Amino acid sequence: MRIVVLVSGTGSNLQSVIDAVKGGELDLDIAAVGADREGTYGLERSSEAGLETFVVNFNSFPTRDEWDAALTARVESYAPDVVVSSGFMRIVSADFIAAFDGKYLNTHPALLPAFPGAHGVRDAMAYGVKVTGCTVHWADAGVDTGPIIAQEAVAIEPGDTEESLHERIKIAERRLLVNTLAALAAAS
Ligand code: GRF
Repeated sequence: MRIVVLVSGTGSNLQSVIDAVKGGELDLDIAAVGADREGTYGLERSSEAGLETFVVNFNSFPTRDEWDAALTARVESYAPDVVVSSGFMRIVSADFIAAFDGKYLNTHPALLPAFPGAHGVRDAMAYGVKVTGCTVHWADAGVDTGPIIAQEAVAIEPGDTEESLHERIKIAERRLLVNTLAALAAAS
């Protein structure tokens, strides 16, 4: 199974995939890691791991459609079986989704369909729920929508900040992502 991973940030979820592959726990090929901007830690750690990286810089394109078409073409060039959005903070178009129909995997730091969007952790805290968590799902053209593959609950503790809660959610999120990819790889 060949995967392409898309990241925007620090890429700690990606690191868990890299570690699982290196440790022999996950049998797949990370064909490349792509980002929507230069200079992220996610790209740096990928290069350090010897992975191919690419940037399709959102700000270098006059329109979102042109950026999206360039991203689609670049990802397609690796012929991935699965494309993983791992903290990739851009909405992709229906054309991108169509190009990777049923292959675009997303992780989200909340129990979807609750609290979709860029601030899933903050929104769950603001609502006052006592349990939130994380979701791995096949992404469709909506914002954090599409068939759910796996979820794990994480309790909100008294005194939690958005940061402390997100860190705890990410521990569960990493486990869920690696386990999901392992199951997909085993079935491929
Ligand atoms: C994850 O919680 C992801 O779901 C969210 O941003 C976080 C990415 O963290 N959208 P990292 O870049 O993998 O450290």
